[in-house]
Amino acid sequence: MGLAPVWRRREREGDSGSTGDPPADHAPVVQGVHNRGYLPHLKAKGGLYFVTFRLADSLPQEVLRQLEVLTDEQRSMQVDQYLDAGHGENWLARPEVAEALKKVLLHFDGERYRLHAWVIMPNHAHLLIEPFGEYSLSEIMQGIKSVSAHESNRLLKREGAFWQPERYDHLVRDQEDFDRCRDYILQNPVKAGLARIPQDYVFSSGSPASEKRSAGGSPALQDRRPAGGSLALLDNRRSSIMRMDWSELKASVAACVACPLHARRNRTVFGVGDENADWLFVGEGPGADEDAQGEPFVGQAGKLLDNMLAAINLKRGKNVYIANVIKCRPPGNRNPEPAEALACEPYLHRQIELIRPKLIVALGKVAAVNLLAREASVASLRGKLHEYRGIPLIVTYHPAYLLRSLHDKAKAWADLCYAVETMKGLQSGKSATI
Ligand code: URA
Repeated sequence: MGLAPVWRRREREGDSGSTGDPPADHAPVVQGVHNRGYLPHLKAKGGLYFVTFRLADSLPQEVLRQLEVLTDEQRSMQVDQYLDAGHGENWLARPEVAEALKKVLLHFDGERYRLHAWVIMPNHAHLLIEPFGEYSLSEIMQGIKSVSAHESNRLLKREGAFWQPERYDHLVRDQEDFDRCRDYILQNPVKAGLARIPQDYVFSSGSPASEKRSAGGSPALQDRRPAGGSLALLDNRRSSIMRMDWSELKASVAACVACPLHARRNRTVFGVGDENADWLFVGEGPGADEDAQGEPFVGQAGKLLDNMLAAINLKRGKNVYIANVIKCRPPGNRNPEPAEALACEPYLHRQIELIRPKLIVALGKVAAVNLLAREASVASLRGKLHEYRGIPLIVTYHPAYLLRSLHDKAKAWADLCYAVETMKGLQSGKSATI
């Protein structure tokens, strides 16, 4: 038997949640109660289900009809292959839409059900879900589909069916079956070519960033770069951003709704300075002052940055460009979430392509780990020459950190001197040793 759990079709479900559809579940199933070695969740009274639901346009009725002649198992495999090939508009490939569904899924996790595993693919989603007490799977799924359909249509500025009315589910039989279903869910993005390893895929329970009750660990990224070939599917918007000129790029950032941060911003903060600069300084993201004024580094940290620039005979706007990893302010000045940084990444990438600086200075950990796409401390990265897509890159402390940690100012000064020396070499045409 292949990896794919066998699907059984359930009754139709309303997309809006307001149609009063009959509950789709049959009589309650009691499973695994007496079997030693089963985990407690497998003794659950309401059962534990592997559920698949998909976008309205992901699997045409005609294809479904053709598959009717197959056995359950054959049909499951065919349907999986069809979905993973990415048919339809793939609305869930848009980070803001996937984020909205993720939010809905996690909202009642631990309260009305336990989500043992989940994944949001570009045109469908899988859950390993255990309903609690009086909540039936049907009610839960109707709620999830209805709220997420409403929110997604709002984000997409569209109307009409978002989800296909049917869902497919499979009652988990035993521990082995549970493990198989969970593996299937976690491996789905890898199998579909969207990630190299399950942890790389942001919209699944396999991602460290999805730990709902995580202890607020570093939001710095794991290596998030999707495997080759996945970009077009995951984010068509990236290739169009990569073709933009300055004015298109500025307009696109100003209108961006690719991640939830857009909802609370006052201004986007694009970047500022000489568009042909040799020096590019990259910070983390706007704070309150920047959000109000639409310019990076204009608050206290910005004053220190200006002083740091002056100390090495540089000035904002003169052979210097200043940008951030993300263009909208995260609430409470928290660090950007990986999904937010990922959604914003094409903008910074395109800025760098257009500027073609000789040297990038990453200010602080968020800038460093996002540009270098690996987790590391500033202490371990500073004093070395790195590169971002062939451009030399130096890491130093963030000015806001230096305002709090005066003792590290000497190290930041050493980093600036190192940057100046490196730049001299680059301007004189000597290749930097990376
Ligand atoms: N901190 C940053 O990283 N960027 C800004 O623009 C302001 C503060």
